[in-house]
Amino acid sequence: MNQPATQKAISKFLLHLHPVKVNSQSIRYSRTFGLGGIAALLFVLLFITGMFLRFTYVPSQRGAYDSIIYLQNSVLFGQLLRNMHYWCGMLLVVVSFLHVIRVFYSQSLYAERRKNWLYGLFLMFLVVMSNFTGYLLPWDQLAYWAVTIMTNMLSYIPIIGDGLASLVRGGAEVNEATLLRFYHFHTGLLPLLMVFTMSIHFWLVRKAKGVTVADNTQKNMVSTNPELVYKEIVVALASILVLLLFSMLVDAPLQAKANPLESPNPSKAPWYFMGFQELLLHLHPGFGIFIVPVLVIAFFIYIPYIKGLNINVGVWFHSAKGKKITIWSGLYAIVFTLIIIVSTEFVLKFQAWLPEVDILITSGLLPFISYVLPTAAFVFFIKKQLKADKAELIISLVTILLTAYLVMTLVGSLLRGEGMHLFA
Ligand code: HEM
Repeated sequence: MNQPATQKAISKFLLHLHPVKVNSQSIRYSRTFGLGGIAALLFVLLFITGMFLRFTYVPSQRGAYDSIIYLQNSVLFGQLLRNMHYWCGMLLVVVSFLHVIRVFYSQSLYAERRKNWLYGLFLMFLVVMSNFTGYLLPWDQLAYWAVTIMTNMLSYIPIIGDGLASLVRGGAEVNEATLLRFYHFHTGLLPLLMVFTMSIHFWLVRKAKGVTVADNTQKNMVSTNPELVYKEIVVALASILVLLLFSMLVDAPLQAKANPLESPNPSKAPWYFMGFQELLLHLHPGFGIFIVPVLVIAFFIYIPYIKGLNINVGVWFHSAKGKKITIWSGLYAIVFTLIIIVSTEFVLKFQAWLPEVDILITSGLLPFISYVLPTAAFVFFIKKQLKADKAELIISLVTILLTAYLVMTLVGSLLRGEGMHLFA
């Protein structure tokens, strides 16, 4: 084979993704931690391992679980293949989340990157939905009850909730129709939408002349090939190695075959939705499943469109003060969320002795106010004491929201046992 011609072809292909020259700051590992690239690599690995899984998987209530057992026990490298697909999927959720965090804290969502932030949010939705629809496919107790819990949560949405839940399930409960729906979404529509959205996402990064840097002058430009390409290859090989080793050592979970008559105690949602399940323990479902998530999503969509922001594009945490505010806001959210969690547990224990009050007040208005008021007071304090500007206040709010969700996820996943009680 003609070596220079091959090299030329590869080089040309790479230049579809990257410009010929890039700013030397933008290719430092600490600029992006390679997170967007790792997410793209994980997607490709998921696609490849998923294609192989399809050879043995049977998408039916009778055949699904047995086909997984067959894959694990009787197919050469079957268990490894399943482990790789499973851990890749979980890692993609984590990496995408970290990527959002890096984009946000490096102030890379404003001006010409606004639109890409929106495509990114849609990608995050697709990543989570891809993982969730795959979760059901092994048809074991873990999968069956996690999806039952999640689809039951949907029915709490006012007016359309019941209809939406039965549309997703294809009936009144999780059954073969649900499995088929999830299978087609997981292996057809969602990957297609992801390829489409990722293509636009990459194109918009290029259109914005690469990733953000604090100093965007044309000096210190270096050749993309080999400077950036070598770094990408190192990150890709290291990621594949870690994933392979992990998949060789840790098996993807598989419980007993799904039994609709025997619900485990506790029944938990997939870990990335545990924050919502935790929220439901403290708030009326109408607030926990509808009002709060809708407000938070709307806020995330709106951030890059907020007027009058003094943006330091590419500067981590906006400023030294912004960094301090991030730390304080994170600490506030950890302490405050834990206080709320413990006090709700306390109230539930002594519920029988408490006077009867309308549920909308006890689990709606009261907790909502007791979250919102102290947080508003904290943000006001930051504004007055630290003389924070608008961009720094947004950093504070986002930090509080993200940290609170993380704390709820950890508490829900790790500390709740029987009857969803703490340390049970
Ligand atoms: C499968 C999921 C995703 C993939 C494969 C992906 C891929 C990438 C890549 C390769 C880059 C350039 C390098 C880097 O920043 O690391 C990038 C940049 C960017 N991504 Fe993502 N991304 C994904 C999800 C998201 C999400 C969920 C968001 C936000 C909600 C987002 C918002 C952005 C923005 C605004 C940029 C430009 C950042 C800058 O110019 O510094 N992406 N993405």
